[in-house]
Amino acid sequence: MSIRVQTENAVTTIAFDRADKKNAITAAMYAALVDALAAAADDPAVRCVVVHGSDQVFTAGNDVQDFLMNPPHGEDSPVSRFLRGIATFGKPLLAAVNGPAVGVGTTMLLHCDLVYAGESARFSTPFAQLGLCPEAASSLLLPSVAGYQRAAQALLLGEPFGPQQAREMGFVNAVLPDGETIPHTLAQAGKLARLPASSLRVTKRLMKQGQQEAIARQMSAEGAEFGVMLRSPEAREAFAAFLGKRKPDFAQFS
Ligand code: COA
Repeated sequence: MSIRVQTENAVTTIAFDRADKKNAITAAMYAALVDALAAAADDPAVRCVVVHGSDQVFTAGNDVQDFLMNPPHGEDSPVSRFLRGIATFGKPLLAAVNGPAVGVGTTMLLHCDLVYAGESARFSTPFAQLGLCPEAASSLLLPSVAGYQRAAQALLLGEPFGPQQAREMGFVNAVLPDGETIPHTLAQAGKLARLPASSLRVTKRLMKQGQQEAIARQMSAEGAEFGVMLRSPEAREAFAAFLGKRKPDFAQFS
């Protein structure tokens, strides 16, 4: 299934576990993530959830091969259900990021409550470079968290940036040595797990409720554009270039 889920001391950890493909996320992995989040939401013994990769890589984002073979269809696709799941998750959601966090690897962090990054963390949102457009309501959330120009730099140019920049942009709480990222995040989750669960739930709901409808609307709008663009010749060229280990040639498209 390529994710590992375990619950200990009232904290559920969800770990990407596909090192040979840099933790790229397939439709089957999205479906497993949806199930893990739903189980954590429904279990009163679970107080919060931590998502992490390894000490070397968070995730390379959507699995390009899988995306080409099984392009997601509509709002019931595993990826859409996952994005709605993290956007509406009612308990604290934490992330520990080392190494590459590409595409959804970065945009999912905008829905987390606490994000800790290792010194090796490299964030990127290369949607335009792939002939696509932003997802996960990042076209709304990144400008609102980071400011328009910094969001435009990330979403239009799509170049990777480091953990200090992510912290300045406002979606990383602290930067740590790589070996400490996951343990520190688990320790923070442990602190949350000892606080009154109802207070955490209500506080989170109050902080998020003003934006919830706008996020849902933006996700739908992005999803509609993304679904069309995924089938475009530009995206096919970008994905074929990645799989062929060559540079894409967009000059052929008007
Ligand atoms: N989908 C499918 N396979 C992927 C992948 C992805 N998103 N990202 C990496 N892989 C695979 C590579 O094809 C390679 O497979 P191989 O060993 O069978 O050739 C393996 O994982 C290792 O990747 P590699 O590129 O050699 O590692 P790297 O350390 O040089 O670079 C990344 C790591 C994450 C920076 C780079 O792989 C990358 O940019 N990936 C593409 C990310 C992307 O575009 N994601 C958004 C999709 S919408």
